[in-house]
Amino acid sequence: MTDLIVEGGVRLSGQLTASGAKNSALPALVAAALADGGPVHLEHVPTDADVATMIQLLRSLGVRVEIGPEPGGVTVYGGELRSTEAPYTLVRRMRASFYVAGLLLARAKEATVPLPGGCALGSRPVDYHLRGFEAMGAAIQIEGGSMRALAPSGLAGASIQLSRPSVGTTIQLMMTASLARGTTTLENAALEPEVVDVASLLNLMGARIRGAGTPIVRIEGVEGLHGCRYAIIPDRIEIATWLVAGAITGGEVAVHGALAEHLHMPLAKLKEAGYLICQTPDMVALSTPPGLARPHAVDLETAPYPGFPTDLQQPFAALLTIADGTSMVRETIFDRFRYVDELRRMGADVRVERDTAIIRGVPRLTGARVEATDLRGGAALLLAALAAEGETRIENAEMIDRGYEALEAKVAALGGRIRREPGTRVPDGGVAEDWRAVFERPLPARHS
Ligand code: EPU
Repeated sequence: MTDLIVEGGVRLSGQLTASGAKNSALPALVAAALADGGPVHLEHVPTDADVATMIQLLRSLGVRVEIGPEPGGVTVYGGELRSTEAPYTLVRRMRASFYVAGLLLARAKEATVPLPGGCALGSRPVDYHLRGFEAMGAAIQIEGGSMRALAPSGLAGASIQLSRPSVGTTIQLMMTASLARGTTTLENAALEPEVVDVASLLNLMGARIRGAGTPIVRIEGVEGLHGCRYAIIPDRIEIATWLVAGAITGGEVAVHGALAEHLHMPLAKLKEAGYLICQTPDMVALSTPPGLARPHAVDLETAPYPGFPTDLQQPFAALLTIADGTSMVRETIFDRFRYVDELRRMGADVRVERDTAIIRGVPRLTGARVEATDLRGGAALLLAALAAEGETRIENAEMIDRGYEALEAKVAALGGRIRREPGTRVPDGGVAEDWRAVFERPLPARHS
């Protein structure tokens, strides 16, 4: 484990380039492995910890994945799969690992994938994915904590209605349906830009997907998919996080290579909080107007796209801790408030009632020793630390590395003071590696 040490109170000012979207890149790597006719070269893949896990997972199944030659370039060679069993050690690290279930079922007609289980965001079932596979003709069994799916005569197109617009299920079923016999219709599909991105990649690989980005997606199965080159969209969550870094420190930040059209709600909320937003077709910038000492309080509620993204609930809550007034932040997608206790340690006044955080703005935060409990909660602590007086030590910093590429370099580019040190803390619920030493009896004293 490593710690991030942040010297807060510096007004951030500068320019950055957006990284590729993690939540597109993860399924795009899996989608690329569906092709058995030539390599798929992906550009703008972020070098973050979750992408590293996905590459390891694909390699463990026998997929050749090469990095480069350009920064952010990754080439995936679908070829023959060596295994139809995803290793538990990799799957447990990251819920998005479950995407390989569709890959294995579509390509090898069988898949054994450990169930992702709960995580720091509460219970996160995969029941919609399983129902989708079943509707397409797979037989599913849950054994020893794993899903075992078999479709000996291949998958067949089906009409599938999702109970909620799930990003993961929409992408998973678009991938599997692309190689199924006949046509699949997904109703109540997720509208997120990452869904559209993966559909665009699959179509370039020869798939026939129509309607991605609308509630009804139609996928006509094809015999096989082929290679192509494809650039991942910019990461809207990363971009907004850096804009909030500018806001929370009273500074100004411009992010190049950004698509502001994916950020309608977050930008509207930043304007409501009093900040100035300037956008061009591939840049978005935030500045703090001279008279704005603290942000205005703002209420927000997370919702599926184009609503306010759950992945920005925590970063925005960090900003609202120093607002002039009380903000209500309602979370409707996940149970995502574990970071609140850590923010309190920095002086924030936040109370959680059921699904809502009630944030009474305070004039200033103070540096403290805190722990990143999950990716976006960690990002919220980083933002709070940048604004706080004094030094903050964020333990378990790897959580933030899961979704933010070149973290320290980007903070430093904005003039922030940050460094990384080896961590010493054992995570809550973890066991010290040297616990056996406690039971070791000292050698009996020798009588002379
Ligand atoms: N759901 C079910 N059953 C399922 C699938 C989803 O009940 O089988 C529920 C979830 O529990 C949740 C809702 O449906 O309440 C929506 O979940 P969704 O499936 O959309 O989420 P996901 O695909 O698991 C992705 C992102 C998350 C992001 C959510 C929502 C990836 C790898 N992950 O998760 O990103 O919060 O969509 O936008 O794309 C993050 O990057 O920090 C992150 C957690």
